[in-house]
Amino acid sequence: MQADPYSGPGIQIHDLKFVPLITEEAVQARVKALGEALTGRFSQQNPLFISILSGAFVFASDLIRAFKGDCEIGFVKLSSYRGTASTGAIQTVMGLEKDLKDRHIIVVEDIVDTGRTLHYFLDQLEQHAPASICTVAFLRKPEAAQFSVPVDYVGFDIEDQFVVGYGLDYEGLGRNLPGIYQLPKTEDQPASI
Ligand code: IMP
Repeated sequence: MQADPYSGPGIQIHDLKFVPLITEEAVQARVKALGEALTGRFSQQNPLFISILSGAFVFASDLIRAFKGDCEIGFVKLSSYRGTASTGAIQTVMGLEKDLKDRHIIVVEDIVDTGRTLHYFLDQLEQHAPASICTVAFLRKPEAAQFSVPVDYVGFDIEDQFVVGYGLDYEGLGRNLPGIYQLPKTEDQPASI
């Protein structure tokens, strides 16, 4: 990264330049609204939020604090991405230790791209006979969809371009950005940032 990559209109991460897409203020307002919607539906049911690591940890942490009522949180680690493209194969690197039977589950995903990860995970979840499954994705790329997966709540639908920030990384960097930054399409690439 360059000396102060987080100031100015764009950022450089490794070899790529990203431009701002969603401000921190817009992110926070949307997460608050999602938290309120989930509160309206689950505040009396002690839901179990399941955050898919690594990307969803930032979103999940804000989302549970926007949720008013008893709730629990668990984590699973699934992995399908290398660099800016999906590898196609999903790995469960770390599993859940909680009993899911008869629980109201809220699956928290950072971004639904092809939908492969969520599709794989929902298949696994259903085998544990939960009372209900609700899915929340902070971002979704409708044009990239290859698997039909139910997403009950979406923060933002975005175009099919690679993004970083708010938990999402490019080769390990960018997760701590409070807003979302996008890789411009080739024709929109800025000459310099
Ligand atoms: P899917 O299985 O293709 O839907 O991809 C899901 C996972 O890939 C997400 O949970 C992210 O971790 C990662 N991913 C997909 N798109 C992006 C992106 O634009 N930036 C960073 N990570 C991404």
